[in-house]
Amino acid sequence: MADKTQETGTISKNEKISATTSVCGLIGNPVGHSLSPLIHNSLAEIFGHDLIYTAFCVSGEGLLSAVKGAFELGIKGLNVTVPHKVAVMDSLCDIDPIAEHIGAVNTLVRTKEGFKGYNTDVYGLKRALISEGVTLQDETVVILGAGGASRACAFLCAMEKAGRVYILNRSVDKARALAKDVNDYAGKALCTALALSDRGQITEESFIVLQATSIGLFPDSDKAPVEDATFYERVRFGFDLIYRPAQTKFMKLVNDAGGRSANGLKMLLYQAVEAYELWNGVSVPDESVHEVQKLLEEAVNR
Ligand code: ATR
Repeated sequence: MADKTQETGTISKNEKISATTSVCGLIGNPVGHSLSPLIHNSLAEIFGHDLIYTAFCVSGEGLLSAVKGAFELGIKGLNVTVPHKVAVMDSLCDIDPIAEHIGAVNTLVRTKEGFKGYNTDVYGLKRALISEGVTLQDETVVILGAGGASRACAFLCAMEKAGRVYILNRSVDKARALAKDVNDYAGKALCTALALSDRGQITEESFIVLQATSIGLFPDSDKAPVEDATFYERVRFGFDLIYRPAQTKFMKLVNDAGGRSANGLKMLLYQAVEAYELWNGVSVPDESVHEVQKLLEEAVNR
C-alpha cells in the first residue's frame, strides 16, 4: 500500500491515533464549547506527542466513578471544570498544597496510586500577568468577586507577596470567608473584605484590579461590577478573567480612565500550558505559547 505521508505530504488525524495514543481530557458539565481541546491538541501537534485531548460531559452523580474509570482506562491526565472543581477533590489520592488551600482542583495528574490534584488556574493567572508585564509583589490589589475564580486570585496575591488586598463582593460574607482563608495562609492581615458598594473605603491612590465576577460575560456585555468613573481613575492595570467578549465593559472603563487592561484569554491559555507541562514533563517555550494563542484568538473571534 502506498505511504499516505509521501502521497499527500500530511497525515490525517485519524491515521495518527493508534492503540498507543495517550488520552487526556476535560470533565465538566457543560463542556461542549470548551477551548481546552484546541489548546492541548495544538500543543501535542507542536511537540509531536502521541496524545489526544477531548471533553467528557460528566454529571455530579457520576463524577467519582468517572474519575475512577478514567484511572482504570489509563487516561493520562484530566482537566476539571464547573461544577466539579471542588467535589472532585474526594476522588484523588493526593492534592497539591496550594490547591488544597484554594479548595479547588482543575488538573488531575496520573500517579501510581491514583490521580493527584493541582490548581493550575493560579499559575495560569500568574503567567498571564507576567506576560502583561505585571507583578503583584508589594502592590495594592483589588479583587472583584469572591467565588471560585476569586479564590485563585486571592491566593496568588498571598503567594506573590502583594502589599494589600481588598476583596469586594456583592455578598460580603463570602468575601469575609475568603479573606480569612487567605489571611490564615499568609499568616497576617493581608486581605480586607468589603461589600462592592463600600469601595469608597479603599484609601490607596493607585491599584491593580482583578475582575473575577461573572458580570460582563457574553451576552450581558454592557455591564461591569463597578461603573463609577472615580474608581477607574485609580486603576493602573485591570485584568478581567472574562475573555468573551474580548473587550469587556470593565476593560473599557479602565482604558477610558487612562489605565491598561487585559482579558482572561491568556489565563485560560497558561492554565492549560501548566497542565500540559505537568502531564508531559516538558516546558512549553514562549514561541509555542504564542502559536497556540493565535489559534485561540481566531477561535474566540469566530
Ligand atoms: P466562578 O467560579 O467563575 O468564580 P462563582 O463562584 O459563581 O463563579 O462566582 C461568581 C462571582 O460573581 C461571585 O463573586 C458573585 O457574587 P456573589 O458571591 O454575591 O453571588 C459575582 N456575581 C455574579 N453575578 C453578580 C451580580 N449580578 N452582581 C454582583 N456580583 C455578581
